[in-house]
Amino acid sequence: MRRKIVAGNWKMNKDLKQGLELIDEIVNMNSAEDVLKIIATPFIHISLAADKLKDKTDFAVAAQNCHQSNAGAYTGEVSAEMIRSTGAAYVIIGHSERRSYFNESTSVLTQKVNIALGNDLTPIFCVGESLDDRNSNQHLEVVRQQLKEALYHLSPADFSKLIIAYEPVWAIGTGVTATSHQAQGMHNFIRSEINKKYGKDISENTSILYGGSCNAENARELFSCLDVDGGLVGGASLKAADFVAIANSF
Ligand code: PGA
Repeated sequence: MRRKIVAGNWKMNKDLKQGLELIDEIVNMNSAEDVLKIIATPFIHISLAADKLKDKTDFAVAAQNCHQSNAGAYTGEVSAEMIRSTGAAYVIIGHSERRSYFNESTSVLTQKVNIALGNDLTPIFCVGESLDDRNSNQHLEVVRQQLKEALYHLSPADFSKLIIAYEPVWAIGTGVTATSHQAQGMHNFIRSEINKKYGKDISENTSILYGGSCNAENARELFSCLDVDGGLVGGASLKAADFVAIANSF
């Protein structure tokens, strides 16, 4: 049985005090215990956040990025090993903002996935097409390539540790959400691709999250889709009530 997951991606928001207060607020609200709530904070919060949540089995902390090396002269970077040492257990890799603003190539993403897994961090690996790709009916092929190029070198044992997030670029931060029909169509496609490469057991057990303007109003319909196992939530994760309402939308 795959896990239901709602992951909040704070991006570059909240100072230290605001971030820790937001975590307290979220934890103090009633959220479904069978849903894993992952909070992806900026690096400045991560150690304190991991410490706050360490005894909660339905909460976890993620980094939003890691470097592709374990250590070295990379000014300003943070390694998977360092992230793991804080108690955080997840890392977002391949977010479209990293791909486009920071020029992260497939080969860099592959290295990041490897180094995360090597340090016992679970990658939340993002895929998703641009509006042009969708309008030209290339969206399935684009996502197929993103999966194949960055992930299909993994052994079945390693692939089965991943969480996949489908985030159509045109829906991220735009207020335009994929329809449940579009989300289910792509999630089902991703699962069938995983099935082809890694078999039924692994494909059935891989959590595939939807991301892109997911909010407290549309989460219920999105999460009711057979192949949508939760959400990767940006803007709406910055308000405790909204984040918890989304987590309670299954
Ligand atoms: P959004 O961001 O919910 O603000 O659209 C989602 C994401 O980028 O993960």
